Amino acid sequence: MYAIEINQLSKVYKNGVQALDGFDLCVKEGDIFTLLGENGAGKSTLIKILTTYLKSTSGTVKMLGLDLNKEADKIRKQIACVFQQTSIDTFLSLEENMLFQGKLYSIPNDEAIKRMESLITVFGLSSYRNLPVSSYSGGVKRRLDIALNLMSNPKILFLDEPTVGMDVQSRNAMWDMVRKIRSELGTTIFLTTHYLEEAEVLSDSICIMKKGKNIVWGSRQKLTKLLDINYIELCLLNINIKKIEKYLCNKFPKWKLILKDSSIYIQNDKDIMDLLLKVLLQEKIQFESIGYVKPSLEDIFIQVLEEANI
Ligand SMILES: Nc1ncnc2c1ncn2[C@@H]1O[C@H](COP(=O)(O)OP(=O)(O)O)[C@@H](O)[C@H]1O
Ligand SMILES: [Mg+2]
Repeated sequence: MYAIEINQLSKVYKNGVQALDGFDLCVKEGDIFTLLGENGAGKSTLIKILTTYLKSTSGTVKMLGLDLNKEADKIRKQIACVFQQTSIDTFLSLEENMLFQGKLYSIPNDEAIKRMESLITVFGLSSYRNLPVSSYSGGVKRRLDIALNLMSNPKILFLDEPTVGMDVQSRNAMWDMVRKIRSELGTTIFLTTHYLEEAEVLSDSICIMKKGKNIVWGSRQKLTKLLDINYIELCLLNINIKKIEKYLCNKFPKWKLILKDSSIYIQNDKDIMDLLLKVLLQEKIQFESIGYVKPSLEDIFIQVLEEANI
């Protein structure tokens, strides 16, 4: 069953910016779902609409079997959202924050204590329970904020760029927490990111969006397949980069070349590196470096859009 079904969703802000443009998507119940997109793609706009903070211009959303346009109140009680800015009160301890959250959701005190204890145990947060939240690092605060939002036992948890700006250690701790939420609590998780790696290691399913549109949608394997194609990056010293690109295009019309800054990227295939090195030496083309690189989000877009002929 799907936890979320989005149909032809559009959002035009008052200033005329179209943040969502006929967006379609389904998210399976129990999945860790990742919405990938660069800054400005429309990720936060979509999350704000799904969490009932913002109204769409047109289109329909069904969440947990309910119509978002008609039954927003019922939906709101069954979901939780952690935005980029934490909502946690930094003057209170984790314990105080959690019990306060319990009151907000009218959870009986006994039940609130039970939930708090179980969340603290599952996520290994006992060392944070009694000190004010202000004494912790940004990464820890984010995790405490998520634990706090789980007090209401939501069926879907929305996380908007949960690891942005984090160091590797905090990021790994966050990934562990997200996996645990799914495995221990069975919560459907909808998270956004602009890190390809995050989507690759964490998700069951993904969607890549650009300019408010759904460009790629499927299982993680689909993303891995796209990432499998690597590129040869040729950094050039020469300012005649366009001339060199033209030369390579004429000599090897089958190669897929992308020009970016002072580099040429060539979609890798067998023998390409050998041929390229030979030509560079023969023609005495000076270069700064040459090597294999993984594709970026932008490379994936170019590749996908080319294949789809958009
Ligand atoms: N409140 C707003 N009013 C007008 N335009 C907005 C507003 N919020 C976001 N936008 C614009 O909508 C587009 C999508 O933004 P956003 O949803 O924040 O993308 P993302 O989260 O992927 O970075 C951007 O062009 C952004 O400038
Ligand atoms: Mg955003």
